[in-house]
Amino acid sequence: MHIVFTLNGRAVTVEADPAERLVDVLRERFGLRRTTAGCYAGECGACVVLLDGEPVN
Ligand code: FES
Repeated sequence: MHIVFTLNGRAVTVEADPAERLVDVLRERFGLRRTTAGCYAGECGACVVLLDGEPVN
């Protein structure tokens, strides 16, 4: 899947499998190692990012 989005104010593109987690794409493709994950189940909030200005796990 080809995805175009704005990351920290910069237009970026990425090829990603629909099953990939956003946190993994941010860490592995964009080197954002401070992006973290804890439970991988949507319960702890460690992976929260802003999507269109709204916090999402
Ligand atoms: S890793 Fe726990 S909510 Fe995302």
